[in-house]
Order: sequence, then structure tokens, then C-alpha cells
Amino acid sequence: MSSVLAEPIRIGRMELKNRMVMAPMGVTVGNMDASTVDYFVERARGGAALIFCNVKGSDSFESVDHSIFFTEETEELFRRIVERSHSCGCMVGAQIMPGDGRIGGPSTRYKVPVSASPCSWMHAPKLKCHQLSLEEIALMEADYRRSVQAALRCGADCVEIHAYGGYLTDQFLTRRWNTRTDGYGGSLENRARFLKELIQICKEEGGTDFPVIVKFTPDHYMEGEGYRHMEEGLALARLIVSYGADALHVDAGCHENWFHAMPPAGMQMTTLQSRSAKIIKAAVDVPVLTHGRFGNVAKAEAAITNGVCDLAVIGRGLLADPQLPNKVLSGRPETIRPCISCNEGCIGRVYAGQQASCAMNPRCGHEDGSRDIPKASRPKRILVVGGGPGGCMAAIYAHDAGHQVELWEKTGRLGGNARYACKPFFKRDMHSMLRFFERELSLRGIPVRYYREAEPEQAAAFAPDHIIWAAGGRPVLPASIPGLALPNVYPATQALDDLCDVGDRVVVVGGGLVGVECALQMDMWGKQVSCIDMAKTIPSEPGFKMNDMLMKQYMDKSGVCFMPGTRLKKVEGDALGCRVTVESKGQEHTLDCDTVLLALGFLPTADQAEPFKAIAPVSIIGDSQNPRKILFAVEEAYEAVRALS
Ligand SMILES: Cc1cc2nc3c(=O)[nH]c(=O)nc-3n(C[C@H](O)[C@H](O)[C@H](O)COP(=O)(O)OP(=O)(O)OC[C@H]3O[C@@H](n4cnc5c(N)ncnc54)[C@H](O)[C@@H]3O)c2cc1C
Ligand SMILES: Cc1cc2nc3c(=O)[nH]c(=O)nc-3n(C[C@H](O)[C@H](O)[C@H](O)COP(=O)(O)O)c2cc1C
Ligand code: SF4
Repeated sequence: MSSVLAEPIRIGRMELKNRMVMAPMGVTVGNMDASTVDYFVERARGGAALIFCNVKGSDSFESVDHSIFFTEETEELFRRIVERSHSCGCMVGAQIMPGDGRIGGPSTRYKVPVSASPCSWMHAPKLKCHQLSLEEIALMEADYRRSVQAALRCGADCVEIHAYGGYLTDQFLTRRWNTRTDGYGGSLENRARFLKELIQICKEEGGTDFPVIVKFTPDHYMEGEGYRHMEEGLALARLIVSYGADALHVDAGCHENWFHAMPPAGMQMTTLQSRSAKIIKAAVDVPVLTHGRFGNVAKAEAAITNGVCDLAVIGRGLLADPQLPNKVLSGRPETIRPCISCNEGCIGRVYAGQQASCAMNPRCGHEDGSRDIPKASRPKRILVVGGGPGGCMAAIYAHDAGHQVELWEKTGRLGGNARYACKPFFKRDMHSMLRFFERELSLRGIPVRYYREAEPEQAAAFAPDHIIWAAGGRPVLPASIPGLALPNVYPATQALDDLCDVGDRVVVVGGGLVGVECALQMDMWGKQVSCIDMAKTIPSEPGFKMNDMLMKQYMDKSGVCFMPGTRLKKVEGDALGCRVTVESKGQEHTLDCDTVLLALGFLPTADQAEPFKAIAPVSIIGDSQNPRKILFAVEEAYEAVRALS
């Protein structure tokens, strides 16, 4: 029996060889170059039936610095994407976006963004957007037409109109942002006029049978005046089909609850996109596409068999593993390199104005081979110290480059701190990463020595040519605070791993990522939890915006008492209980509890590698260099091995 994802399907006249579609995702900041071509073609070669390239359709009002824009030069590059993708049986769609509107930067013509109406600018709500005049709408549509013409000249198989998520087209569609009183405002039909005209442009240019897909948001899942709910979403879906769209691509949410758009690890796997798509699919007779962590192919398969959608659009899953579709088609889904939904390497970097990559695939964004690890001309004997993400990936990369590798791990398990990262109830899907490490090391027959703490003598006896030090960080434990060695005081990581008895009343010390996640997990277990941090805010260190938005929502819904601006002074007590003395706003007070959990951060362990430098050259990577995230540990593993060849 083969996967339902392997079944062919048609969208209008376009025949698709399977049901796996690459989501529109730009990873380069700025217009296309030759490496962008390789990035897209790699996903086509990976077996996707259709890839979407993200294109900005107009430069009259907004900067096009951040995405693909058709010029003579980039048309040629897009043509190459189409030709090379077609040669491996993959169709290419241009996802053309009219603009960002109120969620973007200022217009190139005005000091504020343009929008359907003078709605508030998302980044400066007191300022109102410039309402596009009828002439300006016509100009934007003329630009859009030119972009459609360019896509067609290059051989694009379809156009997807970008009309979702609170961007400009959705601003026209939505009462909250569209207060116009002319033919583009008021009734749903009027608000949909701009989109209708974009569909018409595609059909006029491509022919009535040219496939047009509309990515839209039937439900913003927001409280508040003027957002769209499913009742109108259904009417909108029917309207879009009546205007000639050949398929609907369903999204959920908008920038105000942005985490729905790129669901972080902390979300339920079955996202709101699936909820919306199922309702839409039952109401229309064109194929429905949707997305939302379908890199987990079991979930994508379930969505198709459960009548949620006809095609699975896969975004980040294809950044982590471009070969995902081929692995499904050849019956090897268990070998897929998983996306851990961290958002750190991909969208996080795009928003920081950097070239995007992937925490699980440092080659992502460098498909032109410029960052490849060459085969070792002289294979080395390599000792990897530490079996966290950095060490596991270093061992895998070194083996694949032809080196002889052994991995030493002082505990009985792989994963390092990433084991604890998978423990909170809302992040359990990250376990796929641990399974991936275990399987890939075992498949390659890389020797893993458990319960072997690297000591210089043993390491010298192994006689390595090179050592990769991936020993992670060590927990901060300030000697100046009395009571941290008491019986009921544990590292938060132990509590997350269920390795210590946690009483009913808990004080978590530290409100960074680890402390907050630990507090939420203890809350979920029914404990009475306080979480203190001397920083002014909890979480104390900002993460990527959408991950933080989700975390804040969990914090608000939990019963945890978060206490920022609160400094730990001492812990007293015995095996029966603890009294925690804290200082807040210059006042001391106490918190009685059964268990204290410490989440005070980590320090590097690079110093511990010093004695090993007499044995062989040492590369220090990941948290042992500087405690951060999985993205850095894996990237540094990759670079350390690349530097060996
Ligand atoms: C609760 C928690 C949640 C987190 N959540 C996230 C998240 O959502 N996203 C994210 O990107 N990051 C997260 N992190 C951070 C992430 O886990 C780390 O950045 C990452 O694990 C670092 O990888 P590493 O390989 O450098 O070190 P580690 O994962 O710490 O691995 C080091 C390994 O070395 C072993 N070791 C140490 N000394 C020796 C020795 N002398 N000999 C042999 N073995 C040794 C250790 O036992 C360990 O297995 C989280 C961390 C925690 C604690
Ligand atoms: C780096 C990056 C860039 C993206 N750019 C676009 C875009 O230009 N247009 C779009 O419609 N969606 C864009 N998205 C959203 C994806 O198309 C997709 O909807 C989202 O990632 C959720 O799917 P996933 O869970 O499979 O990743 C982008 C996502 C990422 C990670
Ligand atoms: S950076 Fe993280 S979220 Fe983005 S594709 Fe890679 S693993 Fe997935």
C-alpha cells in the first residue's frame, strides 16, 4: 500500500504527479540570484509535485528589496527554475503578492504604508495608512498584470494569488481594515473586488483554463470587531470559486496571532489551518490545499484521508529535508530529517534581514554547493565528545565526509539538553529529532560509547587526529546564594525529565525559556507554581517574535504566578519542605514550597577542553562554546567538519 500523498491529482488543466506541494518560501533576502535557482530546484528534485516561488507583484508603492521581483535578469533565472523543475516532472507556480500594506514598512511614496483604508499601521498603531485611490489601485493592478505576464513568459504552470494572513489583499477583503465607501468597500462582494480583478488578470493573460490558486484566510481566529469568522469565510470561498479560481489554499490567523501562520513547536500538531480547510473543502468543488506542519507526513496523510484537504502544502519540512517527497514515495518516511518547528533558522533569520537556513539542515539556502562538506582527501580519526545535537550531527557529517568517527557520551542517552527541550507537554513533537539522531548514527554504524566521560588519558589512548568538543553547557549555580544544595532543590531539567520527586508547591527560579517551560509543565501536572526572575519581564530573554507570542498565550492561560523583578536571596528547609526568601522592589518576603527548581542558565564548558588540546587539535562547538540554541550547535558541527576537509 502506498501513501495517499503519492496519488496524482489535477488542478484545472495542471496535472500533478502527487499531492506534495512546496509552500511559497523565500530564503534569500532580496531578489533572485543563481543560488535561489538551486534552492528551488533542489525541492523540485526532491519529488514535490509543485513548487511555489514567492514573487512581489508591484514596485509602485512598496520596496521589493525583500523578495523576488521580475526584471529582465530575474526572469531569466525564473525561467531556469521552471525548465529545471519541469525536467524532473515538477510543476512551478508563481505566488504573486500585490503588497504588504499595513503590516509592512512605509510606502516608497508616502511616509506610511498604503492599504485599503486609513487603518492603523501595525508597527505604529497611532499612524494611519494611506488609502489607495482608484487610480493607485489601477496602477497596482497594471503592475500585477506585468508580473503575471513575466511568469507566463517563463513557463509558469499556475499563479497563486497571495490574499491571506492580513497582508494587503486581505486588508481589502476584511471589514476591520477596509472601511472604504466606494466599489472596493462595504459588502463582501465589494471588498472582494480587488481579488476578483487579480483573478481576472491571471485569466486574461493565461487563458480561461490557466490554473489560478488563491491563498486566503477564511477565519482569522481573532476576537474583535471586523475580523473574519468562518461564516463569512465560507461565503468568501464560494465567491472566489465563482470568480474562476481553480483551487483554494487555506490559511488561518493573521499577524495579530501570527504564530498560527508558522506554527512553532509549542502548538498542537493539528493546526487551525486544518480546521478551516475541512470546513471549506466540504463547501466547494475545487481542490483544497492547506499546510501547517505537514512535514510530519503522517499528519499530512491523515489530513487527506480525513477530508481536510486534497493537497498537502509543506513549508519548513522541505527546508529541513528537500528529499521528503521522494522518501515518502519510496516508502522510507522514517528517514526524513525532521523540522523541529523552532522558527529560528528560517523565518527568524528572514525577519532579521539575514539569509535563512535551517536548524536541522545547514545546507539550506546554500544549495549551489558553496557550503558543501567535501569528501575528505585524507580521512581522519575523529573523537566527538558529547551526544547532544552538536555532537550527533558532527559525528554524522564527519562520517559522511569519509572520516573515521567515534562519539563519547557521559550519560546513557543521546540528545543532551535537547532531551529536555522535548519534554514540555506542548513540545513533545521535538522527539522526532532524537529519533533522527539515534537512527542516523545507528544506520551509519558510528560507534557511540555511552557512560564514557572524556578524560584526557582515555582520549590520548584513542589517538584521535582531531577532537570535536560538543560537551554542552553546565548549569549556573551561584555559590553566593545559600541553600541551593538542600535536598529538595533540583535542576529544572531533572524535573522536566521526571527524574526527581516534585512536590505540590513549586518555586521555579529563573524565567528564561527553560524556567518558563518548566513552570508550565509543572502547572500542567497540577502543581501550584511560582516562577521568579530578577529581570523586569518574564520570559527574561526574547525569542523569535511568533514563538514568544505563543508562549505568552500559554503563560496567560496557566495558573503559574510569574514574578518578574524578583531576586532569589536564599533557600532554607529540609527534606519536608523549603522556604524561599526573595527580594522585590526593595522588600524581602518568603515563599513556602515543597520543591525549588533551578533554571538559572548555562555556562560554556570550553575550558574543560583545554587539556585535550595536547592530544589533538580541538574544535569547540555548540553550547560548550556559548550556550544558545540547537540551530547554532548544528551549524557549528557542520562548519567544524567542513573545516577538516
Ligand atoms: C529545557 C530546555 C529547553 C530548550 N528548548 C530549546 C528549543 O526549543 N529550541 C532550541 O533550539 N534549543 C532549546 N534548548 C537549548 C538546546 O537544547 C541546546 O542549545 C542544545 O542542546 C545544545 O546542543 P549541544 O550539542 O551544544 O550541547 P548539549 O545538548 O548540552 O549536549 C552536550 C552533551 O555532552 C555530554 N557531555 C558533557 N561533558 C562530557 C564529557 N566530558 N564526555 C562525554 N560527554 C559529555 C552531555 O551529557 C550532553 O549529552 C533548550 C534547552 C533546555 C534545557
Ligand atoms: C522562510 C519562510 C518564508 C515564507 N515566505 C512566504 C511567502 O512569501 N508567502 C507565503 O504565502 N507564505 C510564506 N511562508 C509561509 C509558508 O508558505 C507556510 O504557509 C508556513 O511555513 C506553514 O507551513 P509549514 O508548517 O509546513 O512550514 C514562509 C515561511 C517561511 C518559513
Ligand atoms: S529552522 Fe527550525 S522551523 Fe525552520 S525549517 Fe529548520 S527546523 Fe524547521
